[in-house]
Amino acid sequence: MEAVRRECSCIVAEYQSKRHVLEPSRGMFDFEGMDRLVAFAHKNKMKFRGHTLVWHAANPAWLVAELNDVPKEGGLTEYIAKVVGRYRGRVHSWDVVNEAINPADGRSDGLRESIWLKAFGTSYIDMAFHAAHEADPNASLVYNDYNTEGVWKYGDAWRSSTIEMLAGMKARGVPIHAYGMQAHLDPNDRPIDPKVLANFLQEIKDLGLRIQVTELDVRDFKLGRSVEEKNRIAAETTKLFLDVVLSLSVTDEILTWGLSDKYSWLNDSKNAPFYGGIPSPLPLDWKMVRKPMWYAIAKSIAVKTK
Ligand code: XIL
Repeated sequence: MEAVRRECSCIVAEYQSKRHVLEPSRGMFDFEGMDRLVAFAHKNKMKFRGHTLVWHAANPAWLVAELNDVPKEGGLTEYIAKVVGRYRGRVHSWDVVNEAINPADGRSDGLRESIWLKAFGTSYIDMAFHAAHEADPNASLVYNDYNTEGVWKYGDAWRSSTIEMLAGMKARGVPIHAYGMQAHLDPNDRPIDPKVLANFLQEIKDLGLRIQVTELDVRDFKLGRSVEEKNRIAAETTKLFLDVVLSLSVTDEILTWGLSDKYSWLNDSKNAPFYGGIPSPLPLDWKMVRKPMWYAIAKSIAVKTK
């Protein structure tokens, strides 16, 4: 908590604001965890981002069953009205829809075959943004996704599907204000090509959208690397990425996914063995001491705001 107070002006919950936490059974809401975090943020003069209203994951079992059986629009819109309405004026920015794209699913529009898409067709995305805007007209509404930062098998398809989707939303007058880049960077398997990234972000900017960095961390780990080497890679990758993002001057928030390596989701029992070791993906080490990645972020921001 001390480290968060020292380092952050905005926080987001990794877990407490997801639907399986907030509505574990139909109509039974549990806001305790999120309320506590929102109160902590405001007591410490920080902003709070809401993550996330509509996602293919972290849904309660009753909802999955309903969507597969007889989907009701209220299962989407009433939830959004309730949650966004409750935090109106206190959560300044919402990830309304998370990870709606996945070209590997084979659709020509690149949209993910999620339970939401199966239940309501492609219109679920517009529906969600309209509902959120109605519940809090002042909140910044974000479409959030991963896999567009680097070069890899589906990178170009993911980027072009994203632009197509966002352009359609803007053309239909959907209230969307920003594109959230999760930025789970992977310099081993999905390296950044600054030109490719800059072109993509320029297209988003040209649509009149802001760009937020919402879940920055670096998968720096491969077996056998020293901590120093991992720290250097995390810092260099972060700098390369942020310098491109900030060059467009449409970013007002950079959030990392966690703060200390000790508590990174990449360091849990499921992820760490998969990626082959203990990662160093975040700005602070296990003792809450600033790492080279922290200085890389500071440098990118400072250069930009000079
Ligand atoms: C992750 C959390 O960090 C984990 O604690 C949880 O077990 C699974 O979800 N993209 C997202 C986040 O949008 O919600 C995910 O968070 C990480 C990937």
